[in-house]
Amino acid sequence: MTTKEENELLTRVENGAPMGRMLRQLYWIPAVLSSRLEADGAPVRVKLFGDCFVAYRSTDGRVGFLNEACPHRGISLALARNEDNALRCIFHGWKLSITGEVLEVPNEVSDPERFRKTVKVKHYPAIEGAGLVWVWLGSGEAPPAPNFEWMNLPPEQAYACGLELHSNWLQGVEATIDSSHVAILHQSHLATNQSDMAATRVNTAVRYKFQDTPYGYRAAALREAPGGECLARVTEFIMPYYGLIPPLGNGQDQDRTVIMAVPIDDTHLIQWYLFYNTEKPLDSVKRTQRANTWPMAGGIVDSPDQYWGQQRRLMKHGNHTGFTEIVIEDFVAQVSMGPIVDRSEEYLCSADQAIVRLRRQLLEAVRTFETGELPKSARPEARDYSQITATGGRLRSIDEDWRKLPR
Ligand code: FES
Ligand SMILES: [Fe+2]
Repeated sequence: MTTKEENELLTRVENGAPMGRMLRQLYWIPAVLSSRLEADGAPVRVKLFGDCFVAYRSTDGRVGFLNEACPHRGISLALARNEDNALRCIFHGWKLSITGEVLEVPNEVSDPERFRKTVKVKHYPAIEGAGLVWVWLGSGEAPPAPNFEWMNLPPEQAYACGLELHSNWLQGVEATIDSSHVAILHQSHLATNQSDMAATRVNTAVRYKFQDTPYGYRAAALREAPGGECLARVTEFIMPYYGLIPPLGNGQDQDRTVIMAVPIDDTHLIQWYLFYNTEKPLDSVKRTQRANTWPMAGGIVDSPDQYWGQQRRLMKHGNHTGFTEIVIEDFVAQVSMGPIVDRSEEYLCSADQAIVRLRRQLLEAVRTFETGELPKSARPEARDYSQITATGGRLRSIDEDWRKLPR
């Protein structure tokens, strides 16, 4: 059981809370879509861990990431002019470089040259990969940039979209790695799908097998099918908020999905979905569907007084949930728990072993971090993400070793 104290430790990320400090210090964070930043274009406001930042693209194409408040007297730098490889605050014209120097202080009378060098601009390293800007918000030396297989793919092979949701970040991670809901919550969608994954409907009681890894764990959700065969769905959890979802079909050239649940503050997150294919361009029809579904989903799931948009009429005609999209089913499940679900009130069952393991790993990491040590998942040997990929397939029986499935 998760105690109230553990729930606080797991969920709170603002105002110097231990989890927030750990996430900022040890991990790179997907912050904003690269496509939203245009050279010399409008800076974009980004909120993470309860703090406000701006991201912008300078004249020469580099990305800058600064605290939103101007170091002079705090006006929003989202309003700043973006020109000449710098942001110029519209209030008194201070000019701030991408590397955090004050280049000009036009309103200082006595000795602007000396004065400008005394000002510290809070700025953060930023990199780009898979259509996203990733930032590191810690202090001291940055960890190595993550080398996930999707980071250096060409634009037609990786597509990211994110949705802001009114829920704590951990609810997002838990929904992602919870294989046991797939055959139940999403049953109406699986019924129209011909893949192996659709066959997961045959058995709603999942047997889990796990393999702990340096970076998190692998969870094999095993479902016995008629004839003694077994369907395996192997989800990867990578600390602290990555869930790699097995593709619907089999084979190396499938589109793959990774979900990242990033805290905006204690009660909001941005849930990033990254679709990628290491072998060929992504399916463009699906890409368009996603681009259309996402903004719509945001409006729907933020309406508790409308029962989150549930359509009882659809349920009368065979739809299990009354929602038309898989992602909306997931989002609604997550936000309808309330902003921070009270985990001390749950009744966990055997299908929740992945959830229990996730919480245990996060608690162990944050407690280790609090002692000043490096948690296991942040040590150099855990930082090679290049071979990690979710998988699935059929086993001859439930006793066959699922770890032999090709990755
Ligand atoms: S507040 Fe930005 S220059 Fe004065
Ligand atoms: Fe789901």
